[in-house]
Amino acid sequence: MHIILVGPPGAGKGTQAANLVEEFSIPHIATGDIFRSAIKNETPLGKTAKEYIDQGKLVPDEVTIGIVEERLSEGDCQEGFILDGFPRTVAQADALQDILEKLDVDLDNVLNIKVSEDEVIRRLSGRRICSDCGASYHVDFNPPKDEDTCDKCDGDLYQREDDKPETIKERLSVYKEQTEPLINYYKDLGLLKNINGEASLEEVFNNIKQAVS
Ligand code: AP5
Ligand code: ZN
Repeated sequence: MHIILVGPPGAGKGTQAANLVEEFSIPHIATGDIFRSAIKNETPLGKTAKEYIDQGKLVPDEVTIGIVEERLSEGDCQEGFILDGFPRTVAQADALQDILEKLDVDLDNVLNIKVSEDEVIRRLSGRRICSDCGASYHVDFNPPKDEDTCDKCDGDLYQREDDKPETIKERLSVYKEQTEPLINYYKDLGLLKNINGEASLEEVFNNIKQAVS
């Protein structure tokens, strides 16, 4: 099952991708996670990515496409994958079509998780992330058992640098300008399914399961 998750920042892509991985045991490929891990490890990629991410801008297409191509070629994606946060521009979507053609893989579903701007702001400002395993929590909507500690691995929780109010605004405007056109792109290919993201975590996941079955 080859799935793309699209939707604005904070729509719940990472949260629902984690549920899908558990249910279907397919790789989760999240460009945001790849960049954050590179930043943590202070690699050259991390240095480049940080400049853009901290400002809420997109990392340039040539960098991002190269990374995804490398990851998809690792050989574990024939049975399925969940692409989360990629593609994010029409150029990335075009490049993905070429990569998938080379790998002889067909996309099954593009799930568009829809949430309003107000909800995005509420979600991102209360989000906390595990510094060890990357699990995502929310102080009100999905709180960890202990305020500062990950339920899954006991790692410390932190707030993302790009979840500050000014950066959230910029990310939303970048989303509208550069990523929203992908909704029509995938509608035209007959792959798009809309998911109401403004429901409980369980309801959203049930809707996703229905959409992909
Ligand atoms: P990335 O990490 O992909 O960020 P994003 O798309 O902005 O998405 P988020 O991770 O913020 O949100 P999400 O939809 O995963 O929501 P989550 O599940 O955490 O990218 C970061 C940056 O990297 C980009 O800005 C860019 O600079 C760069 N980048 C990445 N990919 C790129 C690309 N392809 N090209 C160029 N640059 C790229 O949920 C959010 C919160 O809400 C959590 O606290 C969660 O607990 C809570 N929540 C989730 N679902 C619900 C629910 N149903 N009800 C209540 N609360 C909920
Ligand atoms: Zn953890």
